[in-house]
Amino acid sequence: MAGELDGRHALVTGGASGIGLECARALAGAGAAVTLVDVSAEAVAARAAELGGGARGIAADVTDEAQVEAAVRAAVEASGPLHAAVNSAGTGTFGKVTDLPADEWRRIIDLNLTGVFLSLKHEALHMADGGSIVNLASLNARQPGIGFAAYCASKAGVEMLTKCAAMDLGPRRVRVNAVAPGLIDTPLTAGLMGTEVERDYLDNIPLGRTGTTGDVAALVLFLASDASAWMTGDLLFVDGGAHTMRYPRMA
Ligand SMILES: NC(=O)c1ccc[n+]([C@@H]2O[C@H](COP(=O)([O-])OP(=O)(O)OC[C@H]3O[C@@H](n4cnc5c(N)ncnc54)[C@H](O)[C@@H]3O)[C@@H](O)[C@H]2O)c1
Repeated sequence: MAGELDGRHALVTGGASGIGLECARALAGAGAAVTLVDVSAEAVAARAAELGGGARGIAADVTDEAQVEAAVRAAVEASGPLHAAVNSAGTGTFGKVTDLPADEWRRIIDLNLTGVFLSLKHEALHMADGGSIVNLASLNARQPGIGFAAYCASKAGVEMLTKCAAMDLGPRRVRVNAVAPGLIDTPLTAGLMGTEVERDYLDNIPLGRTGTTGDVAALVLFLASDASAWMTGDLLFVDGGAHTMRYPRMA
């Protein structure tokens, strides 16, 4: 709703693309001053300029604690304490457990899980009491897939990190929730669209379509706003009901 985040400051990691960018648009549309954080300096500056309304872009790699700390500090110096944060930086990989190189396992855990930990740690340190943190988990936090061990394990970790952080930050009324999208059309998943994999997804989605970034941003906006003031430590699916069925074959 327009105006519900007036006077508030929201930071979005992975904000230069896909779900993070759409969340930033939704938060800005509700009146928040928005800071985008992303690994590409050029992309984050361009997307912030497009957003307008004083949106700021800061380049940082969420797997590097010094960079995350500096980015959050710079955001707060420019636009004041955080009231909301969305942790969307992440990526995927494929490989059965017998084929997956250990370095690839570490890369995914480092970005998808440790990156969320480092982000929420420094966001919480600079967040006003009563603020809200939303982490991008996935349908795969709960639903396993063949050849998907690293991604699924990283997202299951995000769910438990979310619950523990909610307990740690509850005394300050800082809420921490996670969203669990099903297949959403973004640059990350563009290679799956129109393939057998997408068709197998569609056969396993009760609502019969893949999701849009807007489907996810609507839920994130709800969790960032006071409309969800008594919700914390939760994981909410936004997946057309896919969690009720089986995960598609990726190979
Ligand atoms: N697209 C889907 O179907 C889907 C489904 C469930 C969950 N998710 C999750 O949603 C999140 C966003 O996915 P998306 O589809 O929008 O992907 P995307 O690739 O469009 O956007 C991800 C963004 O994260 C940034 N990023 C990557 N590594 C980074 C790093 N080290 N530091 C800072 N930024 C970094 C990228 O530059 C990019 O802008 C991810 O965590 C993903 O796992 C996506």
